[in-house]
Amino acid sequence: MQFTTTDAAPTAVDTDCLIAGLSEDGLSGHLAEIDRASDGLLSRLHESGDLPAKAGQTVMLHAVPGIQADRLLIVGLGKTEKFDGVAFDKAVKAAGKALRQSRAKSAHCLLADADVADRGNDWKLRQAGIALVYADYIYSATKQPKDDAPPATETVSFPGGDGAAQQLSLASAIAAGVRRARDLADLPPNICTPAYLAETAEKMAAEHAKLEVEILEEDTMRSLGMNALMAVAEGSANRPRLIRLSWKGGASGDAPLAMVGKGVTFDTGGISIKPRDLMEQMKFDMGGAAATIGAIEAVARLGLPMNVEGVVAAVENMPDGKAYRPGDVITAMNGKTIEVHNTDAEGRMILADALSWTGQKLKPQTTVDMATLTGACVVALGHHASAVMTQDDELAEELLTAGQRSADRTWRLPLWDDYQEQIESPFADMKNIGGMPAGSITAGCFLSRFAEGQRWAHIDCAGSAWQWGKPESGTGRPVGMLVDWLVHRAGGWDALD
Ligand code: BES
Ligand code: MN
Ligand code: ZN
Repeated sequence: MQFTTTDAAPTAVDTDCLIAGLSEDGLSGHLAEIDRASDGLLSRLHESGDLPAKAGQTVMLHAVPGIQADRLLIVGLGKTEKFDGVAFDKAVKAAGKALRQSRAKSAHCLLADADVADRGNDWKLRQAGIALVYADYIYSATKQPKDDAPPATETVSFPGGDGAAQQLSLASAIAAGVRRARDLADLPPNICTPAYLAETAEKMAAEHAKLEVEILEEDTMRSLGMNALMAVAEGSANRPRLIRLSWKGGASGDAPLAMVGKGVTFDTGGISIKPRDLMEQMKFDMGGAAATIGAIEAVARLGLPMNVEGVVAAVENMPDGKAYRPGDVITAMNGKTIEVHNTDAEGRMILADALSWTGQKLKPQTTVDMATLTGACVVALGHHASAVMTQDDELAEELLTAGQRSADRTWRLPLWDDYQEQIESPFADMKNIGGMPAGSITAGCFLSRFAEGQRWAHIDCAGSAWQWGKPESGTGRPVGMLVDWLVHRAGGWDALD
């Protein structure tokens, strides 16, 4: 999807589809103009209740008199006082979905002209661009679209000049990162293996001069003492990889920001095998890895002036004669011993070593790990927010604010020492599960023991990384939040050119 800008009046734009928003307050702004141009057609439709006003509803009108556009797509914005960043994002996605279902190949989008609480023009343009690309996504890697399927939207124009064009080019960069993460999450586990994730990283590095890649194979990981990661990998014929993508956008000595992603390309649970229902969904257990890779993609396209590292621990968790078992005691890379109580708590095992390695080798100023780590996180927060856990209040604030700003929300769970005793073991320094109470937090407590000395936060995206139904798909979350956070650490949107 290409973005362009034009200063033509909405009624004069020659396009397949004009997109405008209607709040519950009635026809105003552009819609009032179009109403006049069409001799009151919109007022009549509004009075007869044929225009949408409820948030997210859409109506497609054809052959509206007085405008150059072939179609007019009206999307309901809901109540003005409730129209915040998240509502805006939802409205644009609803419009984008209707646009994709139509046969329009071009569109002119007026939605960024709506008033959104606490949001400026630049933000609205960026978010509209990101949301339109999001809504245009149709999975096609292993399923060909039908011949009569509606075509993708090729170009979308917005009112504005160079400033708007600049924001839309930022939007394209971020949207490409989100798209990358969705593609990876959607791919089936027989295609998206640890080796496939490594190849993806290699291809990305080949496309950007300042992006470097390093892949660790099992011999190296074993010699580094990554026994916790290797224990999970042992049961699978798809051998593990530790993938490092380094974006060298800053000065050579500057400590990087590091992201670490859980890349379990399929999670059967291992010997503690999962029930059969919905097991196929566990292909998205590399959602944290996908977000890490997607965020790096966006960072490279934005040309962020700072050093950023993306580390992915890629393994498959299978039951097998060689698989690790409940009762095993494993010595992790940092020397700590772990008693395995449940082989389905595998994400924290691989992240343990990935976090130790990241701290030792990359010496980051801040480390954030992303993982579809616990079902308990889905129970706690559902699908609307990713959970943030950290002992660093300032870092928590940074990630909560980034989530708020990017409409890719995060919510904090406590990581108090009080929870640590749930993972004590008589046979090792810790066990890998903490029982039923606070399952997401005890997983965070486990990880904290491998991030000692680092400025670190853990993000559980088990609920946010997957869209359940209509259609089922990866969401690319929390790429939007991560990119916003990274951009602010690099000096903010205005510092990008
Ligand atoms: N990948 C799962 C967590 C998950 C579940 C993500 C559902 C998304 C949707 C993780 O590896 C897992 O199996 N966690 C266990 C932990 C338990 C054994 C302590 C869980 O949540 O049941
Ligand atoms: Mn598991
Ligand atoms: Zn898992």
